[in-house]
Amino acid sequence: MPFSFTRADFPADFLFGAATAAYQIEGSSFGNCGSSHWDTWAATPGNVVNADDGSIACDHYHRMEGDLDLMRDGGFDAYRFSTSWARVMPDGRTVNPEGLDFYDRLVEGIVARGLKPCLTLYHWDLPSPLADIGGWANREIPERFADFTRAVIDRIGDRVEAVATINEPWCVAWLSHFLGLQAPGLRDIRAATRAMHHVLLAHGLSMEAMREMGQKNLGIVLNLTYPQAASGSEQDLQATRTFDAIHNRWFLDVLFRGHYPDDMITPLAAHMPDGYEEDLKKIAAPMDWLGINYYTRSIVAAAPDTPWPGFANVDGPLPKTDMGWEIYPEGLSSLLERVGRDYTGDLPIIVTENGMAGDEQIKDGVCNDPVRVQYLNNHVQAVRKAIDAGVPVKGYFAWSLLDNFEWSFGYEKRFGLVHVDYATQTRTPKASFEAFRSAIK
Ligand code: FCB
Repeated sequence: MPFSFTRADFPADFLFGAATAAYQIEGSSFGNCGSSHWDTWAATPGNVVNADDGSIACDHYHRMEGDLDLMRDGGFDAYRFSTSWARVMPDGRTVNPEGLDFYDRLVEGIVARGLKPCLTLYHWDLPSPLADIGGWANREIPERFADFTRAVIDRIGDRVEAVATINEPWCVAWLSHFLGLQAPGLRDIRAATRAMHHVLLAHGLSMEAMREMGQKNLGIVLNLTYPQAASGSEQDLQATRTFDAIHNRWFLDVLFRGHYPDDMITPLAAHMPDGYEEDLKKIAAPMDWLGINYYTRSIVAAAPDTPWPGFANVDGPLPKTDMGWEIYPEGLSSLLERVGRDYTGDLPIIVTENGMAGDEQIKDGVCNDPVRVQYLNNHVQAVRKAIDAGVPVKGYFAWSLLDNFEWSFGYEKRFGLVHVDYATQTRTPKASFEAFRSAIK
């Protein structure tokens, strides 16, 4: 089943790519990589489905050349990858030469195949020694992140096309310190509030470091969501505004307007770090593009008997992926139009992740994933709709090149365009990979 679009339907400079992240594919037990809070979270029973961890993952550390061949064979323009902080600096401060050597080889391999390397500095693997001093709740972490930025950019910055500082700060902070669903698994409003600020300060200090080094084409990757109220009641509408504040406006307001939204600052004021106002200018320093990751919409209802934020996610009626996430491509065009209109204007937007989990199997050497083909097709068409409406979307990256370690869901959830048999590490391109190849070749 082919896609209903081709490259010719998009502007000439539009980039098609696929994305991965270090901890999810590399194998954290190789190359003198240090322990990260994902290793310790995964080593604690009950945190990750099937007690899976990222120690071997897709063994990408050893199979990188073959995996990059897949990127080239798929006809992609760009490859989005991340650098593991724990691999580059096992103690969070001192460079591990093998770590930087690995990323040097990786970038060489990307460039050699005619692909544009798109680097994400932090996709969640915080070194354990930095977790020991409080991790993202500690104001020192942004400073150390700026040092890490300098070490990475010094080595590979000359060959990367674009750099994102942080992947999904909402996940780094709220999901991991308030909801407790990812490393370090805290459920504490004070730690969460501090992490919400420090992760953005880390972005600001990293931007500042890269500007000083003359690095070009810098941005951040936000996982924005498209919230809809469960009903037209004032309570549900209010709950949806609060949800929007936590997921979307906290980040967009400060990055593009230099202040946090009042409906967050008021409830969180008691927990904000002293003097946070002085950091806002750095956080709001101009970027060259904004990355948006989009997977699903969120239906929100009031939960009146619970303390702030007082909302609950409601199960929607639409067909769902293996994650239980509703398939709602309209949300992507609406979100892109909103962000373009209210925040970014002429600034390029890149869809840095979009995709779905399915439990496809290999039969007779072939891996068919018709639902994913349709999902990707309809979301790429949603991007085209936003472009037609005047939003300067400049690229689309599928999540993910490979099936991989899906965080607390372990290896059970498969997001790849390429199937991975974890027992043998055999890669089998799925029908969705072939669909991309024929649409964008
Ligand atoms: C995003 C993450 C990515 C992957 C997808 C499914 O939140 O950035 O690593 O896990 O979800």
